[in-house]
Amino acid sequence: MRQLIAGNWKMHGRLADVAAYAAALGQTPGHVDLLVCPPFPLLDRFSAALGGSVALGGQDCHAQAQGAHTGDVSASMLKDAGASYVILGHSERRENHGETNAEICGKTLAAMAAGLTPIVCVGETGTEREAGAAEEVVRTQLRHSLPSDFAGVVAYEPVWAIGTGKTPTEADVTAMHGAIRAALVAQLGAAGLTVKILYGGSVKPGNAASLLALPEVGGALVGGASLKAEDFLAIAAGAPGV
Ligand code: PGA
Repeated sequence: MRQLIAGNWKMHGRLADVAAYAAALGQTPGHVDLLVCPPFPLLDRFSAALGGSVALGGQDCHAQAQGAHTGDVSASMLKDAGASYVILGHSERRENHGETNAEICGKTLAAMAAGLTPIVCVGETGTEREAGAAEEVVRTQLRHSLPSDFAGVVAYEPVWAIGTGKTPTEADVTAMHGAIRAALVAQLGAAGLTVKILYGGSVKPGNAASLLALPEVGGALVGGASLKAEDFLAIAAGAPGV
């Protein structure tokens, strides 16, 4: 499976940043799929600048196709602006916006109906890991966030590793990705074997190659280090070939 290296710009960036970043991504290593998820107002500009060479995604969408939902965007609007992916259930949305697994499941269905590939994020807090509950927490998130006909990507992002410079040990990433694969197969049957499982949380040029080489790691979801094209490309270069 080709690895997917996804950049999550979060609430960073300006229209004026797009051209130089998109030009730098012209140097993309060919053995991986690259995806950039900028804030909504940059999508259309990115779409024109990238011309389809790198995929684009949103960072959230509403569960409804349209309606009186001030401040929200629908999956079909993202698609219209050039996106083919959408990140859903990121821990910052679960925490800052109180998103529940059931809401994330609704958004995932909306994304699939609009023809977008959802990237559904799961991950435990530091307290949950210390309590030995990490795998159970993630299994519960998967059980309730993924619809029974899920077709998309899962991102394992331990909350305590996001933006902190801390990463789990290789053994912990291997164990969790194995547990996620088993849960996906239990939930989805054979379709669970083809779901890419990304690792996210403090992925940098210096640790990307070792994380991306681990079993069942199908790519990376990169926050801070995706903002500089040079670092993002260095992370992509660390992905093993197929
Ligand atoms: P980080 O963020 O790479 O800055 O830790 C990852 C994410 O939140 O997707």
